[in-house]
Amino acid sequence: MRITIFGSGYVGLVTGACLADVGHDVMCVDVDEDKVARLNKGEVPIYEPGLESLIRQNRSAGRLHFTTDAEQAVSFGLLQFIAVGTPSDEDGSADLRHVLKVAETIAHHMDGYRIIVDKSTVPVGTASRVERTIAAELDRRGVSLDFDVCSNPEFLKEGAAIEDFSKGARIVVGTDSERVVSAMRECYAPYSRQKDKLMFMGVRSAELTKYAANAMLATKISFINEIANLSERLGADIEEVRHGIGSDPRIGYNFIYPGCGYGGSCFPKDVKALAHTAEQIGHPAELISAVEKVNARQKSRLFEMLCQAFDGQLAGKTIALWGLAFKPNTDDMREAPSRALMEALWEAGARVQAYDPEAADECRRIYGERDDLVLAGQRDAAVEGADALVICTEWKAFRTVDFAELHESLASPVLVDGRNLFQPEAVKAAGLAYYAIGRGDSVRPVLA
Ligand code: UDX
Repeated sequence: MRITIFGSGYVGLVTGACLADVGHDVMCVDVDEDKVARLNKGEVPIYEPGLESLIRQNRSAGRLHFTTDAEQAVSFGLLQFIAVGTPSDEDGSADLRHVLKVAETIAHHMDGYRIIVDKSTVPVGTASRVERTIAAELDRRGVSLDFDVCSNPEFLKEGAAIEDFSKGARIVVGTDSERVVSAMRECYAPYSRQKDKLMFMGVRSAELTKYAANAMLATKISFINEIANLSERLGADIEEVRHGIGSDPRIGYNFIYPGCGYGGSCFPKDVKALAHTAEQIGHPAELISAVEKVNARQKSRLFEMLCQAFDGQLAGKTIALWGLAFKPNTDDMREAPSRALMEALWEAGARVQAYDPEAADECRRIYGERDDLVLAGQRDAAVEGADALVICTEWKAFRTVDFAELHESLASPVLVDGRNLFQPEAVKAAGLAYYAIGRGDSVRPVLA
């Protein structure tokens, strides 16, 4: 099957590479000439495990093409995926400029029936707007052509996107057209052999499904963080509570890990956008807004703990930070808790010595060269001469620590663990004060 994908960002590249890999002919189109030139040389502009080799193999097999030529791309595929960015506007709503521009471009070059597939995460009602945009451009051209618009949201996790695309729990398609049903069945048949994963539903239901899924997951995280904050004050241990509630299959263990707040390109943006939509239609979504508020507060917990450990005297201190990315196995720092912490530390006059296995370049790109930031090449180098160590991301490489050695390296024996990686007893046995989320010394510090 011939498939066109507009947008060679994260979602577009993963979708294109995976669909080519199961035998489809895929053309990816992007307005960024430099990016397309790099992709045509085999350079992949984002870090995602397995993506580079998948792109390389399928380009060599002649099933995956990159171009800036929209006309060629529109004439190429029956399916025209829209996978361009939908950044947040200042008020939290999704900015649809790029999506609607692509719709117009498709209509501008269309010469026969096409199915336009909304892959980008877009507010409920966007498919209707895409439809109206296409109809208006066809009208302007004075041509009458058949087309359908459907919604096919993605549920990809960074770091596991290829696996999620190929082995995801479901493939949601919102449409009321039989032609779309049969084309999407053909497109996704290779992923539905063992079990029919395709779920057809109304267009608006599909659009809302994406937001509801992300809001539900974000709610679980904010909920456990709220309980963790209560644990600290009530003298309970959130890790015991987590086990206690997760064992109930109605609750389950997934997405109830307490931490220093969720980040990334999806949860923060989608929760804000859903809250904004609710506001717009005159039905403020109290719970969704609270999820966002709790998360914003959670991101400041690490700084608060440092203030507690140092009696608010952070000026002139050097804080070691392990983990800059918003989660392990990515270099993405969008909305990462590490950023809230670093910015608060700089504001307070402290210096940061940070280490991340993948995100150092991204950190440099965001903050540039500054006197109060050192990016270390190794985790132990980040700790040398620091007053305290803070863990922001649960990279595997941070899970094993010789606490006695750490005590030696730190000027003050303070370990702030934003991901609850250790047993409080083991840390404290080495004479370190252990501040963690919902456990440890966070409330009544016992400084050695
Ligand atoms: C998420 C969704 O999982 C995915 O389905 C959707 O398509 C895009 O958004 P992603 O942002 O890549 O994917 O990361 P995810 O692994 O879901 O983690 C999101 C954030 O939540 C991270 O900051 C992570 O640290 C945090 N998190 C996750 C927790 O704090 N606790 C948990 O129990 C799980």
